[in-house]
Amino acid sequence: MLTFSRRSGARLFAALGVLGIAAWGQERKQDASTFLRPLDQSVLEVGPVSVIVRASNKGKLSLDGKPVDLKQSAGGVYTATVNSSGGLHELSWIDAAGEQKIRFFLRTEANVAGVPAGWKVFKPHPPSVECGICHSEKQGEWSFKTRSYSETCFTCHEQKSFVQGHAHNDEVLADCVLCHNPHGSTEEFHLKMPRETACKQCHG
Ligand code: HEC
Ligand code: HEC
Ligand code: HEC
Ligand code: HEC
Repeated sequence: MLTFSRRSGARLFAALGVLGIAAWGQERKQDASTFLRPLDQSVLEVGPVSVIVRASNKGKLSLDGKPVDLKQSAGGVYTATVNSSGGLHELSWIDAAGEQKIRFFLRTEANVAGVPAGWKVFKPHPPSVECGICHSEKQGEWSFKTRSYSETCFTCHEQKSFVQGHAHNDEVLADCVLCHNPHGSTEEFHLKMPRETACKQCHG
């Protein structure tokens, strides 16, 4: 749970033996990329937008069709900061697995009325974008600084006020990311999904 290695993929590769090379190529191709931030159909304030892409193949990022400078850190993690004017924008990631696109809207006082219906405001979390606060890069692997998520979270959040807001025992709550999105969210309290859906994961 604590690291993001692709070890299972490597094991599959070893097990497949002679057929491995073809299968490996295919497996990597099928591994579609994901935009971790920002989220599709979200609204952000005009200003620098921090982008995180998780991809198993090297690829190209573009904003409204124009290439964007990309930073690669360990283990298939790509980041960029994009700047643009108010209005609707499209980010695209293209690699061997295909293309992923997300759209977002940069809001200004003047264009608020143009926000597409149903789109929600995306709040990045934490407000500063330093990945190293929570992650580390060891031997080319993208991983975590601490043994558990909660250890990381409680470097900034008070455990005391946390207990008041959460009605469960520690065991249920340990996996913070079951309910929260650590990179930001369009929901209240940085929830990963609407509150009722979060509860329904366990309470049918
Ligand atoms: C507040 C702590 C925190 C910060 C800051 C943070 N992350 Fe994360 N990140 C997490 C947690 C917790 C997870 C585990 C999420 C899960 O399992 O749902 C995670 C997961 C990830 C993953 C793996 C996701 C996957 O599904 O494979 C990537 C990649 C990642 N973060 C990249 C970044 C990058 C790049 C930055 C900086 C721009 C960053 N993170 C900043 C806490 C953080
Ligand atoms: C580097 C400091 C830092 C770390 C580490 C951190 N947070 Fe935060 N978090 C903040 C700040 C600052 C805010 C308030 C601003 C905001 O809402 O984005 C916040 C807000 C939140 C909120 C919303 C609070 C509200 O009242 O709306 C939640 C939920 C949250 N964090 C969960 C987490 C979880 C889960 C982790 C661990 C994966 C974590 N945080 C790690 C700094 C941090
Ligand atoms: C079962 C889902 C769930 C899990 C697991 C969970 N949270 Fe929350 N969290 C919530 C909900 C729902 C709220 C909104 C609280 C409210 O409605 O009073 C919240 C609110 C928060 C807040 C803001 C308010 C406060 O109490 O300070 C922080 C910070 C936070 N969570 C951090 C964490 C951390 C850190 C973990 C892991 C140790 C965690 N959460 C695990 C559901 C969860
Ligand atoms: C990871 C699974 C999980 C999730 C997600 C979850 N719960 Fe629970 N919940 C439990 C378990 C297990 C118990 C019994 C043990 C305890 O109290 O911690 C419980 C107990 C409760 C109780 C105490 C009353 C009772 O039935 O025993 C309430 C109230 C509750 N949950 C509300 C919520 C709400 C509201 C959410 C969404 C924010 C939520 N739960 C999300 C697992 C979960």
